[in-house]
Amino acid sequence: MSARLTATKILSEVLGQRRSLSAVLPAALLSMKKSGDRPLVSEFCYGVLRWHLRLSAISQHFMHKPLKKKDIDIQCLLLLGLYQLIYMRVPKHAAVAETVAVTNALNKPWAKGLVNAVLRSYQRNSDVLTKLDQDDVVSTAHPAWLLGKIKKNWPDEWQYIVNANNNPAPIILRVNIAKIEQQDYLKLLEANDIGAESLPYAPQAIKLAKLQDVTALPGFDQGWFSVQDSAAQLAAPLLDVQPGMRVLDACAAPGGKSCHILECEPGVELVSLDHDEDRTRRIHENLLRLGLNAQVLVGDAAQPESWWDGQQFDRILLDAPCSATGVIRRHPDIKYLRQADDITGLVGVQGELLQALWSLLKPGGQLLYATCSVLTQENSGQILKFIKEQKGACEVPIQAQWGRHVVAGRQIMTGESGMDGFYYACLKKQKFNEDI
Ligand SMILES: C[S@@+](CC[C@H](N)C(=O)[O-])C[C@H]1O[C@@H](n2cnc3c(N)ncnc32)[C@H](O)[C@@H]1O
Repeated sequence: MSARLTATKILSEVLGQRRSLSAVLPAALLSMKKSGDRPLVSEFCYGVLRWHLRLSAISQHFMHKPLKKKDIDIQCLLLLGLYQLIYMRVPKHAAVAETVAVTNALNKPWAKGLVNAVLRSYQRNSDVLTKLDQDDVVSTAHPAWLLGKIKKNWPDEWQYIVNANNNPAPIILRVNIAKIEQQDYLKLLEANDIGAESLPYAPQAIKLAKLQDVTALPGFDQGWFSVQDSAAQLAAPLLDVQPGMRVLDACAAPGGKSCHILECEPGVELVSLDHDEDRTRRIHENLLRLGLNAQVLVGDAAQPESWWDGQQFDRILLDAPCSATGVIRRHPDIKYLRQADDITGLVGVQGELLQALWSLLKPGGQLLYATCSVLTQENSGQILKFIKEQKGACEVPIQAQWGRHVVAGRQIMTGESGMDGFYYACLKKQKFNEDI
């Protein structure tokens, strides 16, 4: 199967059946006979999803009537053709010819003329893009509802954020300092001619110069590193765990932050909870590979009576389910899959989780709330409301050089210091008679 045909099939599943790219792409890549084509297929899929709204606007412009639902594959093929013409450095005539040829492989020869006509019309009239780009939704390839929220929340930064969302993210490693020092691993990469550099604010982070298969890097099987953005690597230090503490990671799968906590302080008693049984398997796998230990539980953090043993925690990490609007650069399909209504639901769930987990915290203990979102409703808005309503809850301001102080907590804009968009707030539970 050609790279273009494989990409068209993957895109049809994402755009036609609303499946996430991370659920579809890995298996599709593995099943490819020509493994050398895998990077190209990835680039096609990520690129088309990143620019989906802009590419769709162009294809609509050159089509007399929309395609039927059952022809989503042809629609995806059109987007793929346009993506190559606008964003890739492939010879234009080859891009058109090879894209048109996919219609045969899809058993839809009737679409040959259509795909050819749309792509050639664009080539002859590419200046139409200037006109279409006057609409922000088209030029930024962000849906109107999301663009509206980002603009409203960040009137001065919105262009920076959407630009970062549309730029591919680098691979960031977190070196397992229980096994090897960050500087030593960096030297090892250099000795193997693998371009890499340190990053600010996250002392265990290493940024790879190029996208590559991380399982082929030195020490993967031995658990010398994990893949984790440097914004996510800020959680474990912020929790400030000490030996002997009882710690709950309440939304833990696949275990990135749980493992980091244990790498920094192996002497904690860590409970890693997630309500998704399949995803908790990933926690076990990661703990095993990295040589770490935690009690992994399957359970709903909002219903502690079903899994909690009644012993309160010194520290709780709530890495809450969220819109993931801070990681669009890694998951461009979020712009397509996420809907405006989802946000209200997510804000409700986050509020319930905060409420339920608060009673599990020891007096004097701290809860770290985190999201990979840039929307204030899920972040400072959520925390302000909680502090207002929850007696004995107060914010411990985060003193840091990264991100920016907001009304409550700290926000990292997507792309800032090379990081994903992230939010952190640290809450302390007052002891009886303690001054707030
Ligand atoms: C942002 S991800 C967590 C990422 C993880 N902390 C890490 O660093 O690898 C959110 C997780 O919350 C879990 N989750 C959502 N609602 C939950 C609930 N009510 N109880 C427990 N886990 C929940 C999801 O299954 C998902 O794995």
